[in-house]
Amino acid sequence: MNLVLMGLPGAGKGTQAEKIVEAYGIPHISTGDMFRAAIKEGTPLGKQAKQYMDRGDLVPDEVTIGIVRERLSKADCQNGFLLDGFPRTVAQAEALETMLSEIGRQLDYVIHIDVRREVLLERLTGRRICRNCGATYHLVFHPPAVLGVCDKCGGELYQRADDNEATVANRLEVNQKQMKPLLDFYEQKGYLRHINGEQDMEKVFADIRELLGGLSA
Ligand code: AP5
Ligand code: ZN
Repeated sequence: MNLVLMGLPGAGKGTQAEKIVEAYGIPHISTGDMFRAAIKEGTPLGKQAKQYMDRGDLVPDEVTIGIVRERLSKADCQNGFLLDGFPRTVAQAEALETMLSEIGRQLDYVIHIDVRREVLLERLTGRRICRNCGATYHLVFHPPAVLGVCDKCGGELYQRADDNEATVANRLEVNQKQMKPLLDFYEQKGYLRHINGEQDMEKVFADIRELLGGLSA
């Protein structure tokens, strides 16, 4: 099962990715998570990515394509993968097509989670993440049982550095600009499927499951 999960910042990619990887046992490849891990470790990649992420801009294509190429070559991707937040530009999508054709594979679906822009600001500013296991919560829509504490592992919840209002506004702007040509690209290839992301999280997942029903993992 070779999947791409698309959607504007806050559409619910990470939330649904957690459920998809649990249900189908494929690795979750999030370029955002990979950059954040590199920043935490203080690697040269992290230092480079940080300047773009802090502003809410995209990390340059050649850097992003390089880390995905390396990740897809790992053994755990043999039986499929879930890409989350990549590709985000047509250049990245073209590079992905080349990478996959080199290994005789192709995408099954590109799932776009549709959420109107006005809903996204509230989702992002209310988001909290577990420092220990990475689980995602929301102060209003998905609160933990104890404020500031992860239900799953007891870890501390924190707010992402780019989830403040000013950076969120730029992230939405930058991503929206890239989205239309990317959607056209995948529409033309026949991979694109839309899922209504403005429903309860479980209902969004039920719709994704229905779509994936015909595929084997
Ligand atoms: P990345 O980490 O990918 O962030 P993003 O695209 O901005 O997406 P988010 O993770 O913010 O949102 P999400 O869709 O995962 O939403 P979530 O499920 O958490 O990228 C960060 C940065 O890295 C980029 O800005 C860029 O600089 C760089 N980068 C990454 N990939 C790149 C690439 N390919 N090229 C270049 N640069 C790249 O949900 C959000 C909140 O809403 C949560 O609190 C959640 O609980 C809540 N929620 C979720 N679903 C629902 C629902 N159905 N109803 C109510 N609330 C919900
Ligand atoms: Zn946790």
